[in-house]
Amino acid sequence: MRRKQNNKAVRDFKERSLITHYNSKSPISEQYRTIRSNIQFSSVDNEYRTIMVTSSGPGEGKSTTAANLAVTFAQQGKRVLFIDADLRKPTAHYTFRVSNAQGLTNVLTKQIPLGEAHRTTEIEGLHILPSGPVPPNPAELLGSRMMKEITKEASEEFDVILFDTPPLLAVTDGQILANLCDGVVLVVGSQKTENEAALKSKELLEAAKAKLLGVVLNRKKMKEGNYYYYYGS
Ligand SMILES: Nc1ncnc2c1ncn2[C@@H]1O[C@H](COP(=O)(O)OP(=O)(O)OP(=O)(O)O)[C@@H](O)[C@H]1O
Ligand SMILES: [Mg+2]
Repeated sequence: MRRKQNNKAVRDFKERSLITHYNSKSPISEQYRTIRSNIQFSSVDNEYRTIMVTSSGPGEGKSTTAANLAVTFAQQGKRVLFIDADLRKPTAHYTFRVSNAQGLTNVLTKQIPLGEAHRTTEIEGLHILPSGPVPPNPAELLGSRMMKEITKEASEEFDVILFDTPPLLAVTDGQILANLCDGVVLVVGSQKTENEAALKSKELLEAAKAKLLGVVLNRKKMKEGNYYYYYGS
């Protein structure tokens, strides 16, 4: 019975691409750990506790990167909170299989306290705050004083807080959050992001006085046996 349940859990996670959880030894999981290490190397002088993951356009892999990064931080024994701040197209509740009836938007509108809104996941140490019901005014909510307070409160309870966000060039939400977070990871979809779009995103982040920690090149096709396939480029 237990074995059957375990198999189902593995299948569910596979469907949502949480490779770092169902196959932590794969070369791809190793690449996510490399990103985690690079963030930690950047943290030598400044502590980067609140980190957002974004991209120029839609579908470049923000949510996949953010969720897998959250898993690798938790696997290292950190207390991690994953916040779905993509209030336009939230997906974290699907990825982590939790209800989205209550989440960030309920905390932002003071309907429930943060401590009651975030949930545990199957992954030890990893908590998730889903988006909650999609509001008509995401940018306004994310730019509110309450958002700052939530981030501060979360920083007292968790070692790392990862935010998933909407695309930078589409709406202002990402820029607003970038100003609030200690650091930003920019996902660039291989052969998808135009150079111009990536540069424009960099400009927007600079304008928001954000700290760009690095760029993740996603969906890069690599041949097996390639040195970089195993060790990360
Ligand atoms: N490295 C990858 N390899 C294979 N599939 C991937 C990879 N990264 C993302 N995907 C898949 O591409 C799709 C889009 O990825 P994801 O949802 O992470 O992008 P996103 O930037 O969050 O999109 P949106 O802008 O809609 O929020 C998903 O189906 C995801 O499983
Ligand atoms: Mg997404």
